[in-house]
Amino acid sequence: MRKKSVAVLGATGAVGQRVCNMLRDHPWFEVTALTGGASIGKRYREAAKWLLPADMPEPLSELEVRPSTPDGMEADLALSALPADVAREVEPLFAEAGLPVVSNASALRMEEGVPLVVPEVNPDHVELIAPQRRNRGWRGFVATDPNCSTINLVLALKPLQELLGIRKVIVTTMQAISGAGYPGVPSLDILDNIIPYIDGEEGKMRTETLKILGHLEAGGVRGAPFAVAAACNRVPVYDGHTEAVYLEAEERVDLDDVREAFRNFRGGAHDLGLPTAPEAPVILREEEDRPQPRLDRMAGTVPGMSVSVGRLRHGIDEWSLQFVVLGHNTIRGAAGGAISLAELLVAKGWI
Ligand SMILES: NC(=O)c1ccc[n+]([C@@H]2O[C@H](COP(=O)([O-])OP(=O)(O)OC[C@H]3O[C@@H](n4cnc5c(N)ncnc54)[C@H](OP(=O)(O)O)[C@@H]3O)[C@@H](O)[C@H]2O)c1
Repeated sequence: MRKKSVAVLGATGAVGQRVCNMLRDHPWFEVTALTGGASIGKRYREAAKWLLPADMPEPLSELEVRPSTPDGMEADLALSALPADVAREVEPLFAEAGLPVVSNASALRMEEGVPLVVPEVNPDHVELIAPQRRNRGWRGFVATDPNCSTINLVLALKPLQELLGIRKVIVTTMQAISGAGYPGVPSLDILDNIIPYIDGEEGKMRTETLKILGHLEAGGVRGAPFAVAAACNRVPVYDGHTEAVYLEAEERVDLDDVREAFRNFRGGAHDLGLPTAPEAPVILREEEDRPQPRLDRMAGTVPGMSVSVGRLRHGIDEWSLQFVVLGHNTIRGAAGGAISLAELLVAKGWI
């Protein structure tokens, strides 16, 4: 098939760079346009302070950074890594102009009719695109991937929701600095320190988790019927969000069954042939001191696309469970999550 042309919106930032990096040899997609804000008019190599170990993809280095508007944009889709306030204004303009937009930004995630999708967890929610187009009169559409902490949590919860049913989840995060974009958190604030506050994050973890694990019905999503509380912390780790989870189940928890559910969980995305979907989206670690960000953030047959679960044990009684989940925030939690969603949309004929 002819490669689909991709406009990367917000291409100079931490997530935009990851998108460009992950698409360098992609079998289905090819980056043909880059947009930004302050860096409009510069060549990409001058505009982006390149943050990744592999060099900037050569074909992109001479591209001029364009304004983040659909005017004159000839692309098959847009992958957005814009700040939320900009995305709220700009993404609907692209959708109105006929482009599919797959977004990392939080702006539209919780809006009715906007799919919030993890391909291995709720691929059926892309069906919201039809009513979205009808109701908004758009020829294109906006589909979103979740917050970088939510995605780890929902990948771990999905097999448990199927196995046990969930009554309550309490999650405490230890989130990497790169989650705040570039230049992000000042070094004098975060070195030798933990910051027990990330603006808006705890609410996002609650609402997004319930939407993703909810049911599709009549042009909308009925949220999953369990309680979620989150406490979000910024820690001095470069990449990789770690989350300590306490869960109360609908039934008695057999730890061997839980281990088997994690090991067997596939979610179907890899079987659909999506190039960025790892064979196993959840990897179970049996060592008593894993997962760890330095050792496990690049886990998976597609590096960084699997989350690692470990420290599995009962909580206060046999109806409860505790574990730790860890995932790469700019790969699985952003660029890779959006790319695999775009792949799902191609596979299902929406792009
Ligand atoms: N970092 C993560 O782990 C992560 C994970 C999940 C989701 N996200 C979300 O992904 C998005 C991007 O995050 P990031 O970490 O990559 O942020 P970032 O490093 O701050 O990059 C922001 C990008 O947006 C562009 N931009 C800023 N103001 C603009 C404006 N007024 N008009 C047009 N473009 C503008 C910047 O271009 P210039 O350089 O030209 O100004 C840059 O390319 C955010 O919505 C964030 O919440 C991030």
